[in-house]
Amino acid sequence: MGYKVAVVGATGNVGREILSILAERGFPADEVVALASRRSQGVEVSFGDKTLKVKALETYDFSDTDICLMSAGGAVSKEWSPKIGAQGCVVIDNSSQWRMDPDVPLIVPEVNADAIVGFTKKNIIANPNCSTAQLVVALKPLHDAATIKRVVVSTYQSVSGAGKDAMDELFTQTRAIFVSDPVEPKKFPKRIAFNLIPQIDVFLDDGSTKEEWKMVAETKKILDPKIKLTATCVRVPVFISHSESVNVEFEKELSAEDARKILREAPGILVIDTREPGGYATPHEAAGEDATFISRLRDDPTVDNAINFWCVSDNLRKGAALNAVQIAEVLVNRKLITARSKAA
Ligand SMILES: NC(=O)c1ccc[n+]([C@@H]2O[C@H](COP(=O)([O-])OP(=O)(O)OC[C@H]3O[C@@H](n4cnc5c(N)ncnc54)[C@H](OP(=O)(O)O)[C@@H]3O)[C@@H](O)[C@H]2O)c1
Repeated sequence: MGYKVAVVGATGNVGREILSILAERGFPADEVVALASRRSQGVEVSFGDKTLKVKALETYDFSDTDICLMSAGGAVSKEWSPKIGAQGCVVIDNSSQWRMDPDVPLIVPEVNADAIVGFTKKNIIANPNCSTAQLVVALKPLHDAATIKRVVVSTYQSVSGAGKDAMDELFTQTRAIFVSDPVEPKKFPKRIAFNLIPQIDVFLDDGSTKEEWKMVAETKKILDPKIKLTATCVRVPVFISHSESVNVEFEKELSAEDARKILREAPGILVIDTREPGGYATPHEAAGEDATFISRLRDDPTVDNAINFWCVSDNLRKGAALNAVQIAEVLVNRKLITARSKAA
């Protein structure tokens, strides 16, 4: 017998992707339940070749559910994750609500799967921010080889990172511009169509944004608190996949050629770097894929032991849904949970 799994936020960008990844990877579930707000009750969502009727989170009883994959935003998670965890169901949460809680492991399976053991304190495991997830997958094998001192990263983040309404806004604005209709920003602070916005999430007192702070704090929690990281996060008019320009300085000697060899062998990474027109990955090719793509590897001649690279990944998959399902697989494969139907 397998597990009973609930997907909260099943009508959203990440929730729909979670359902499709559970089906693709043959997750050992006897039953998968789709949950969202009351507004979506009865709506049908795809799960492999089946459809599921969405139920309302607020009336669902979690007492016989083993795993809850939660992607309904911070406010919903703040209210519901502790209640669900207290009912004995392990919550894997995609929001930023629990990531920095010392009693909640923040997990990227390729990087720090062993840290998962602390999950029993709250029965909550956090998934990192999308831009952090792909970055730490690339940094981990390099850190193991030469110890990272400092990282400078600029992101080019797609609109799907801000939810389904944000994708609609890019589509609507793009069409409006073509037919000379007025463009009205709603979800984003400025026009996103044919534009770039150097602000993701709110501003902090030091002039950085919360998205930039998340990349710093989460990289330290997942990988190593000694790593110094500075980030500039930019929203771009791309529907899916985040891109990052990354500069890394190491304690020990490591060339771009060494990095290429290491990254070719690393889990979750695909190096595409032929140094000719088109010989690199772009968001378009990364969309729908599981890998974190690395391109444009080169030495940085301005600092000792430093390299530059380009890093692209599907933010809805490795940045959210795939990572969450991989965490659920770690729970199952390491026998950290037992199906409650079996235990009964
Ligand atoms: N998109 C990414 O790249 C990404 C990456 C990492 C983490 N995340 C995080 O994942 C979460 C979801 O993001 P998303 O992009 O999927 O957002 P989204 O497309 O806007 O979807 C939001 C989902 O939450 C549900 N929801 C809203 N209020 C609810 C309530 N009161 N009770 C139950 N369900 C409720 C919505 O259901 P209705 O349709 O019924 O309103 C919908 O299914 C957010 O916390 C986000 O920060 C996203």
